[in-house]
Amino acid sequence: MEPIHLFVPTFRIDESLAEIRECLEKGWTGLGFKTVEFEQAWREHTRLPHAHFLSSASAGLHLALKLLKEERGWRDGDEVLTTPLTFVSTNHAILYEGLRPVFADVDEYLCPDPASLAARITPRTRAVVFVGLGGNPGRYAEVRRLCSERGLALVLDAAHMAGTWMADGSHAGADADVAVFSFQAVKNLPTADSGMICFLSARLDQEVRKWTWLGINKDTYTRTQSSGAYRWLYDVEHLGFKYHGNSIMAAMGLVGLKYMEQDNTERRTLSAVYDDALSGVAGISCVPMAPGCTPSRHLYQVLVDARDQVMAGLNARGIYPGVHYRDNTLYRMYKDAPGPCPRARRASESVISLPLHLRLSQGEVRRVALALREVVAGIIGQQRRE
Ligand SMILES: Cc1ncc(COP(=O)(O)O)c(C=O)c1O
Repeated sequence: MEPIHLFVPTFRIDESLAEIRECLEKGWTGLGFKTVEFEQAWREHTRLPHAHFLSSASAGLHLALKLLKEERGWRDGDEVLTTPLTFVSTNHAILYEGLRPVFADVDEYLCPDPASLAARITPRTRAVVFVGLGGNPGRYAEVRRLCSERGLALVLDAAHMAGTWMADGSHAGADADVAVFSFQAVKNLPTADSGMICFLSARLDQEVRKWTWLGINKDTYTRTQSSGAYRWLYDVEHLGFKYHGNSIMAAMGLVGLKYMEQDNTERRTLSAVYDDALSGVAGISCVPMAPGCTPSRHLYQVLVDARDQVMAGLNARGIYPGVHYRDNTLYRMYKDAPGPCPRARRASESVISLPLHLRLSQGEVRRVALALREVVAGIIGQQRRE
């Protein structure tokens, strides 16, 4: 039988090549041209007020914290509440800026728990980073209220949330101070590597465009489009990075965006097949989605005991799921970070992301679910006999 993998991206190859061809024919593959078109298409689709296209979400998370720190006058060592159940980009971004990550626990959605966040606010807390794990908004609305009441900035790590619509009908990120999306190869809107940073503030949106282009105040494409003398002239206002996205990635993004809602609907259909096959099964808990939202369904996650044994059992049947994520305090560099987060630790030891992508048929999803049930039942039976 064919192996079943966690993620396999689907690209609309001919359409993507046609968009890329336009870049090649025009002789413009860098910043500008398709990046401008993609930013506009993303804003129109999501109704987010601003969007700037980047080389990755990791770059975006860094700039989110940098620009908020500068705007609000935070000091080195000020605290940012975050989750240990995430990809390390989230927490590295806090450290890049000399800020201190303080871990709060997760709730049953595996998203930051508002009660745990509230309990860990100190006079030095400046911001919360909320990770919508697997596209799940969790209790984001409560966290939004908490941040407003306590004067904290809210950064949404929306790497998994392209196409997550909240219970109030807005796209994820609409009321965050800044939301950062990933369009890395296995995300819901796959390119090869890219991302989008969406600030609420028009000023920060303007500012971030300089930071992604080495502090230069006029990008080459804008200069090329202008007429008259001194097209070559620009100023460098401050330090910056080379974090902007390019037109080849934007060309892929433009095609991906056309299909994103249809693709996410298919992900939700496949997830419902998992729900039917796995709900109420002894030894398997399906991680719930927040009620009322339309999630991107980047992940379908379950919690099981003896996770590593279950993974080995699935691998033996040609099924290769993933783990999102290991508790970051298990990594050497975060081992002394403040916590503790018992629920995140338990999830880190028991979570499995089941295969979920557009090349899977419903029959294959049933095959995965059946294999999981058999493996888990086998382990429970063996434990009883011992
Ligand atoms: C939760 C989370 N945040 C941030 C990132 C970083 O995204 P990128 O690969 O676009 O830098 C990822 C990527 O896997 C992620 O899963």
